[in-house]
Amino acid sequence: MKPKIYITRKIPDSTLQKLKEHCHVTMWEEEETPVPRDVLKEQLKTVDGLYCLLTEQIDSELLKEAAQLKVISNMAVGFNNIDVEAASEKGIMVTNTPGVLTESTADLAFALLMATARRIPESSEFLRTGKWKAWAPMMLTGQDVFGATLGIVGMGRIGEGVARRAKGFDMEVLYHNRSRKPDVESQLGVTYVELEELLKQSDYVMILVPFSEETKNLISEKELSLMKETSILINVARGGIVNEHDLYHALKDQKIWAAGLDVFEQEPVSLNHPLLSLPNVVVLPHIGSASIKTRIKMSELAAENLLQALAGNTPQHLVNKELL
Ligand code: DGY
Repeated sequence: MKPKIYITRKIPDSTLQKLKEHCHVTMWEEEETPVPRDVLKEQLKTVDGLYCLLTEQIDSELLKEAAQLKVISNMAVGFNNIDVEAASEKGIMVTNTPGVLTESTADLAFALLMATARRIPESSEFLRTGKWKAWAPMMLTGQDVFGATLGIVGMGRIGEGVARRAKGFDMEVLYHNRSRKPDVESQLGVTYVELEELLKQSDYVMILVPFSEETKNLISEKELSLMKETSILINVARGGIVNEHDLYHALKDQKIWAAGLDVFEQEPVSLNHPLLSLPNVVVLPHIGSASIKTRIKMSELAAENLLQALAGNTPQHLVNKELL
């Protein structure tokens, strides 16, 4: 008998067809609206596998009645939306999709850095709203990227991708990570420093650590106060890592120069959020991995993880390895 699975959002058709070959599939058909929690809870009572996105909070309360659930396959590399401990207690495998999104996310991170440094969205708006009267020496001037110092907080796969791009711009790259990476240092010519040193020296600080209790509010008032007045903060990881209240004040009081944000504590971010009122903030709707090819690869990898688990094998990207 085919296993039953629930998919929490419309996924690419080719991936859906593949899943249908092996499973009885029920899918939340909406593209832009997340499945309501009570619908998901009801579905979880009877399915063997869950295919979900980072928009679903899979917590212990939701898992309570998931009597036959064997696997939660998250179509994302981050899995802070899932209570992994609660899943492990019930013997439910949790999987994610690392690797396939590395380069697209590094591209976006670098694009956001450049857009913020050179005030690209603001300049475009300036032209479109008829404010451009004449070329002027200091009109819409920004910060240089070429030859500047970049500090990467979290040297994982995406951090390495960003460092490779930065080297093409002749940047000095500093990094801070839980553990030092001598191989990466010699291959990419990057330098390990303590977080405090990184914040003091960098022209650009890029956040690339996963969200956890340990990294929550990692960048708050004290850390922001160590940055230069001309420096720029870029966050493409998760919202809660940077304290948004403290960031707002640092930007408003010109303690730092600008910020580029692809992620927020609450997503979608409210249009009334104070950060959106500042001209020196470039905002994006969590599109780090959003290239067509990469999103298809992520959907396929999430499907493979799910099918492997349901076939009784160890999925390639098992998060809770303690289950082995
Ligand atoms: C992830 O995969 O965790 C990103 O945030 C979305 O691609």
